[in-house]
Amino acid sequence: MDWGLKNRLSRIIKPKTGKTVMLAVDHGYFLGPTSGLEEPHKTIQPLTPFADSLMLTRGVLRSSIDPAIAPPIVLRVSGGTSILSELSNEGIITSMEDAVRLNVSGVALSIFVGGEFERQTLLSLAELVDLGEKYGIPVLAVTAVGKEMARDARYLSLACRIAGELGAHLVKTYYCEDFESVVRSCPVPVVIAGGKKIDEFDALELSHKAVREGAVGVDMGRNIFQAENPLAMIQAVRAVVHEDATPQQAYDLYCSIKK
Ligand code: 5RP
Repeated sequence: MDWGLKNRLSRIIKPKTGKTVMLAVDHGYFLGPTSGLEEPHKTIQPLTPFADSLMLTRGVLRSSIDPAIAPPIVLRVSGGTSILSELSNEGIITSMEDAVRLNVSGVALSIFVGGEFERQTLLSLAELVDLGEKYGIPVLAVTAVGKEMARDARYLSLACRIAGELGAHLVKTYYCEDFESVVRSCPVPVVIAGGKKIDEFDALELSHKAVREGAVGVDMGRNIFQAENPLAMIQAVRAVVHEDATPQQAYDLYCSIKK
């Protein structure tokens, strides 16, 4: 791995703890004005000081994030579909030159293993990795799971391993039973998505289990920005990821900040 790529990756995964709390706010790229992100800057701005990085599209980056105080950026560069169409039919929507111009620390792309356009998304990943290696920008592969796919260790191990084999530098996937085996068989670090909004305690427990079972952290969206108190939630998630807090300790922290 070349110096620039390593340097950028260490802006995302913090060397002090070897962990990361990425704030995912890229949902609009296929979901439109997702609940909680209707006016992105209002949601994102207060959370920014607590996020090790922001995962978002260039549209929201340019319009809603102050370049003078932005944390490291992981730019979503795949898309081209909406919830009204076939989701796996994604392509690359942002050039690497623009990613460089935006001074991002990483780029993210979804792969749809088992999806109708599996091949297209895997070839896009390989192409993006070639460009990432050329410009020194790490690539985060997101293992998107189609409605018909089971989110189990067998499927997620397959998807994560393929992402790693194709050269992704970091993989984002879902927590599942026997998550340890998913991490063990993936040659690169793994972060988890939070998924649909669940109870705050449960989301902290999910983060705790994922980290205990080998994830380097979370790339979490809805369970932070749709929480009753997003500012308290992101700090509680940080306590789990960076300070090894138990779910109960983190939940107590959540409640005390919320007060
Ligand atoms: C979809 C994505 C997201 O849009 C997002 O990052 C998911 O985060 P969360 O599930 O925590 O809301 O990656 O594949």
